[in-house]
Amino acid sequence: MCPNVVQKSRPIIKTDVLVVGSGIAGLTFAIKMAKKRPDLEILVLTKTDERESNTRYAQGGVAAVWNFEVDTYEKHIADTLDAGDGLCDEEIVSIVVKEGPERVKEIIEWGARFDKNQKDEYDLGKEGGHSEFRILHYKDLTGWEMQRTISDYAAELPNIKILEEYYAIDIITQHHLGRIVNRVTPNIECYGVYALNKETREIETFLARSTVLATGGAGQVYKATTNPVIATGDGIAMVYRANGRLENMEFVQFHPTSLFNPAGENPSFLVSEAVRGFGGLLRDRAEVEFMLKYDERGSLAPRDIVARAIDKEMKEQGEEHMYLDCRHLDKDKFYAHFPTIYDKCVSIGIDPMKQMIPVVPACHYLCGGIQTDEMGKTSIFNLYAAGECTSTGLHGANRLASNSLLEAMVFAHRIHLAVDQQIDSVTHKEGIPAWNAKGTTEPKELVLMTQSHKELKEIMSSYVGIVRSNVRLKRSLDRLGLLYNETEDLYRDSMISPQLCELRNLITIAYLITKSASIRRESRGLHFTTDFPKLLNFVEDSIL
Ligand code: FAD
Ligand code: SIN
Repeated sequence: MCPNVVQKSRPIIKTDVLVVGSGIAGLTFAIKMAKKRPDLEILVLTKTDERESNTRYAQGGVAAVWNFEVDTYEKHIADTLDAGDGLCDEEIVSIVVKEGPERVKEIIEWGARFDKNQKDEYDLGKEGGHSEFRILHYKDLTGWEMQRTISDYAAELPNIKILEEYYAIDIITQHHLGRIVNRVTPNIECYGVYALNKETREIETFLARSTVLATGGAGQVYKATTNPVIATGDGIAMVYRANGRLENMEFVQFHPTSLFNPAGENPSFLVSEAVRGFGGLLRDRAEVEFMLKYDERGSLAPRDIVARAIDKEMKEQGEEHMYLDCRHLDKDKFYAHFPTIYDKCVSIGIDPMKQMIPVVPACHYLCGGIQTDEMGKTSIFNLYAAGECTSTGLHGANRLASNSLLEAMVFAHRIHLAVDQQIDSVTHKEGIPAWNAKGTTEPKELVLMTQSHKELKEIMSSYVGIVRSNVRLKRSLDRLGLLYNETEDLYRDSMISPQLCELRNLITIAYLITKSASIRRESRGLHFTTDFPKLLNFVEDSIL
């Protein structure tokens, strides 16, 4: 690597619709848009392999009212509102629950296989907080199957073009035309994105008539997370830098049961909640079913309750993990439902039929994010967002299990309707400058970046985890300030690399989570602080 090389920027690339992200939200939207408007070009940028996404790792399944003999929209709505602890937008919940089954039928038509029972009916699973069996799944590989379906289908549509190994750095707004844009500026507009071609290392300008962010979650901000390494909150950080509106960033969902692996691994392997839906029971080392102390629903209580209970038991008992007991379950049926989980356990020396599985909570899902309306529009004109990078109003203070794949599909659908209505009146913006690459030197010591990322994860896991307090949040903010300054210095002087941008974005995400947590002076849903352990009567989204 040679220092002092000027980072080149390439000529402008124009497309009709630009999508950043190729998970369930990005590709579902791209497919729908491409089918509705064969006259438009849909360009999808994705930062690594097209099929690498949070979507791909989803295990449990998609929640949708399916068996109308026993289940109803009202029940699914009530379960979602109950989990969301007063912060869900009831209209959005109703939209997602009622439109959800149609979206699931569509992906089945596109080729997705969900497991069926001997009567040839869909084998519906159950997870924490659901009052009925309503989770469609494909073994414990639901996300893999859905990603396969949409990737294969998108490849068949001639007006979808997917560019892999393209890293979106920032969205382009009036700011890049030299105008002053701040958080109170009305009508901020999005014209496209600057993206780094990872192969040539050139920064390309993509101009679009409509842009959709579908960049997923940010689990990599914590030490233990079920999210793959791509989950660095890029889209959320981009919108924050562009002065767009975000909300509810304090609500980070910790999954109660990731596999405790003494060897450590990133990401942590998930042991699906569906295993508890199938009869698995949480126990401590002495085999006590401790969840019954916390909630009458026991091991199948909503995630926030279970994760907090495990955290408390671990601290009180001085243990590194609790256990999930599956020894009483039928081996053949267990293996048919959970082959990946079974094999993974065996690979680290645990036979789930003979030994209890050691489990520990891990960061899993970000409920907050880019604020969107009922059509997926953000506060920035011509910028839409879908999937885990958004806060649509569905999850409120805590997401109900298996509601996110559903949410992504419902909003992908709604956004394609909104873009179809609007795009004909929009033209490409003229006069956008190429990326202004100021930094010219290769970062000399990559170890500085990896060290900062480690410190960041340590700060967030120690001070802004499942249980928070004023002192911890202040410690986090103080330490993040230092990391922020050091990283901004590096960013100013260095050539752009995905690693540096991701670090910068994760610091922004960490700041946003910590700041929102300090603003919320109560405990609600996933946010629990020992200084304000009660729920307040008034309910507000925390908007940044
Ligand atoms: P993703 O699928 O994460 O896709 C994001 C895309 O954006 C990727 O293609 C990524 O490369 C791209 N990208 C990001 N930043 C950039 C950038 N700067 N430039 C270019 N491209 C970029 N939900 C359920 O409903 N049911 C489940 O059973 C379930 N199980 C889960 C199990 C695990 C282990 C995990 C991690 C999550 C699970 N979830 C589940 C949550 C669910 O999988 C995610 O919320 C959902 O898949 C998110 O989809 P998405 O399209 O928003 O983002
Ligand atoms: C799981 O399978 O436990 C994950 C489900 C989800 O996150 O929605």
